[in-house]
Amino acid sequence: MTGAGISAESGIPTFRKNGRPVPWGGYDDPTTLSHVDSLSEDIEAVWRWFSYRIGLIGECKPNAGHLALAAMATRFERLNLVTQNVDGLHQRAGSSGVVELHGNIWRARCLGECGAPEVLLEMPVAPIPPQCSCGSPLRPGVVMYGEVLEDGPVAAAHAATKCDLFLVIGTSGVVWPAALLPVESKRHGAFVVEINPEETPLTEEVDLSIRALAGELLPALLAQLGGSCGP
Ligand code: OAD
Repeated sequence: MTGAGISAESGIPTFRKNGRPVPWGGYDDPTTLSHVDSLSEDIEAVWRWFSYRIGLIGECKPNAGHLALAAMATRFERLNLVTQNVDGLHQRAGSSGVVELHGNIWRARCLGECGAPEVLLEMPVAPIPPQCSCGSPLRPGVVMYGEVLEDGPVAAAHAATKCDLFLVIGTSGVVWPAALLPVESKRHGAFVVEINPEETPLTEEVDLSIRALAGELLPALLAQLGGSCGP
């Protein structure tokens, strides 16, 4: 399971550092505009924030951590990749079947009567808010705070906890239900390893916690498995 930390080395800021919100894009707490109430209170502000993020993500590339995870799929009998990230970088690195717990920032949904469930966004996002072909405003296709996660990805994530080895990579472990998955996996008998340069609330729950950057440790792990993701 990955979190924002795996994309940090691609240039996408994380939401938290040392457990506290990190200001980015001119926002003191970038998670506030990710609350579902913001959609009715100020949808333009929500879209300015998402449009800024889409612009940034569009300029970023998968890093060695994403590439190593994609390459590892051929080294294990089964590798399930569950991510809290909405940036799509795992897919761009070549991973397939990625379980996106929080949705994908390149998708939007219609807020009007047509209710189109999946409208693909392009860069730059315009107008703000962007509109569905039916003329109604769109909303970001990501799970916002105060919303329930979609059943499909949640079920797939729970199923993935039944494994031998569970890697928890680059997450602060404070957003539920994702933060519960490593513990659930341990209960199923998995060996749980955290990869994070910082200590997190998950550190004392896991079997092994490695203080490292995902973009350095994952290629090293892949090399131990006899693979490579480098040029
Ligand atoms: P956070 O931003 O909360 O945490 C990022 C974690 O990555 C921190 O623990 C960092 O120490 C770690 N980290 C930073 N650089 C790293 C690196 N190079 N390699 C490995 N780890 C590194 O991100 P998440 O836990 O993913 O939700 O946040 C969970 C959710 O909160 C996000 O999905 C998002 C956010 O609000 C929604 O948008 C719904």
